[in-house]
Amino acid sequence: MEIDIFTLFPEWFEWLTEQRHVRNALAAGTRIECVNFREHTPLGAGQVDDTPFGGGAGMVLRVDVFDSALRARYGIDPVRLREDRRVIALTPGGRLLDDELVRELAEESALTLLCGRYEGFDERIIEHFASEQVSIGRYVLAGGELAAMVVCDTVLRKLPGALGHEESAIEESFSPALEGRPEYPHYTRPAEYRGWRVPEVLLSGHHEQIARWRRERSRERARED
Ligand code: 6GU
Repeated sequence: MEIDIFTLFPEWFEWLTEQRHVRNALAAGTRIECVNFREHTPLGAGQVDDTPFGGGAGMVLRVDVFDSALRARYGIDPVRLREDRRVIALTPGGRLLDDELVRELAEESALTLLCGRYEGFDERIIEHFASEQVSIGRYVLAGGELAAMVVCDTVLRKLPGALGHEESAIEESFSPALEGRPEYPHYTRPAEYRGWRVPEVLLSGHHEQIARWRRERSRERARED
């Protein structure tokens, strides 16, 4: 998979690429590259934003700046780019990132993530260059970078080899294997600590009973029973 991230803060993503599962994905051929769109602005003095028409607080990222940056990166009119790859604008009001969307994105061979700052994107960026908007929750971040990192983290850990333990991503919270429910609780040694005992069934070696117990706990956590 190839992930391009358009951001004013490319150095923030160095932390992300140092994480074990991300490093594993990179070693297995995934590529993450940042494009600092300030370097592609056609305006003077590195300008990327402007005051909103109609007045109001904050600054808005300019459509001509994204046009230049996307065109410089891909060598085509960015209006056509979204026919080739998903171009995701990270916005608080976008489609909520959940396990289903993460799995969908993990199937893609290429993603472009656009990180906004300030009051956000000129709407024409979203309308003409983005294929979709994605949000990581109903709250407002100061910018799209943390959301882009969440997208990368969640998507890359779905790729083969990222976790080093293939089962980890199969029967995890919200997965189809658990019918979208949260995961069951986990325990490790010691079997008793300060009088808190690990559920007996987990020490029993009865795989069917353990599987049933885990299903029940997962259902309970989903508050379905
Ligand atoms: Cl994707 N961007 C911003 N700025 N805030 C958010 C978000 C994204 N998702 C939740 N809050």
